[in-house]
Amino acid sequence: MTRHAEDGPRTARLTDTAATVPSAAAHVAASPAAALEVDGRTTGPEASDRRDEDRREGGRRAEDDTGAGEDDELTAREERQGARVREAIRDELEPAVQGEDRSAIISLRNVSLAFDRPILQDVSFVARKGETIVVVGESGTGKSTILKLILRLLVPDTGQVCIEGRDISRLSFADALKVRQRMGMVFQGAALFDSMSVFENVAYPLREQTDMSEEEIDTRVREKLKFVDLEPDQILDQLPSQLSGGMRKRVGIARGMAADPPIMLYDEPTSGLDPLTTGTVTRLIMKLQRELGVTSVVVSHDIRSTFRMATRVALLAERRIVFSGTPEEMTGSDDEYIRDFLGGL
Ligand SMILES: Nc1ncnc2c1ncn2[C@@H]1O[C@H](COP(=O)(O)OP(=O)(O)OP(=O)(O)O)[C@@H](O)[C@H]1O
Ligand SMILES: [Mg+2]
Repeated sequence: MTRHAEDGPRTARLTDTAATVPSAAAHVAASPAAALEVDGRTTGPEASDRRDEDRREGGRRAEDDTGAGEDDELTAREERQGARVREAIRDELEPAVQGEDRSAIISLRNVSLAFDRPILQDVSFVARKGETIVVVGESGTGKSTILKLILRLLVPDTGQVCIEGRDISRLSFADALKVRQRMGMVFQGAALFDSMSVFENVAYPLREQTDMSEEEIDTRVREKLKFVDLEPDQILDQLPSQLSGGMRKRVGIARGMAADPPIMLYDEPTSGLDPLTTGTVTRLIMKLQRELGVTSVVVSHDIRSTFRMATRVALLAERRIVFSGTPEEMTGSDDEYIRDFLGGL
């Protein structure tokens, strides 16, 4: 029933309708709300990030430096600012939503897929430029399957998966590969190449997808490691087994973003991490959205980080998206299943 991506005939029929709407996130970055956020991030969360790292990765113990009250206050301030920025992004996108939906970067339209039983039925959602859609749902509901459909590792039985205006299930394998290069994927558990150094891991997509010189690759790898708050000189030559779980996740993000893809996909980026490292990884995903205007689809089990990073949340249950809306709409819902899913938040 299910066709794997590389099977079967493919007719390449490309209509280049790639979105040309300017980056909503870039506009937002110039807005007062975002300025506040930028200030907040510089002085608040990143300072807190560094404390996180001190605690996690062998630095000084910082418990005496940082009272729990101060942490709570920082988190509350971040959350208020995060809500304002998400709202600004949605406002920015509203005119596009009403008119022709040219800002759609990823869209699933009435997608159905079955393996030995139906997994997804009539699933539709749109991720617009600069949005972070977080897909949540119980285990086995098809969240990772959605990422595989977006990557065209799977094709739907019916319906369309469009990336930047192209129905990717109709592309040839070679064209599909090109579309895949528009996306950075962060796999569950980071999935680094164990026998390769951090440098080679992050350089991998650059060697595969670009003809950059060794010098350019070196510069780019260092830049990406710094973006994820890792000190290149300290870890470039290390093997993944020498890193902590949180560092491995961040190297995974650096690798995913190495070739500057406009789309990032994350499968459970915070699973298995302690709350402090979870906060660090969540902030990194938000940083990619806000500073680089990246469009993201994140699969997560972590409701708290979902609410921090999502512009919209899609809840998958019984083969369908049973809720799609803002974090605020989700917490305000009195639907019994949603309330149960949120566990009384
Ligand atoms: N290649 C495959 N062949 C057959 N069944 C599959 C295949 N891939 C996934 N499935 C089934 O599809 C369903 C959805 O799988 P998927 O991995 O998307 O779930 P998930 O929501 O990501 O779950 P989890 O939260 O546990 O990661 C599961 O029942 C799984 O067993
Ligand atoms: Mg999964």
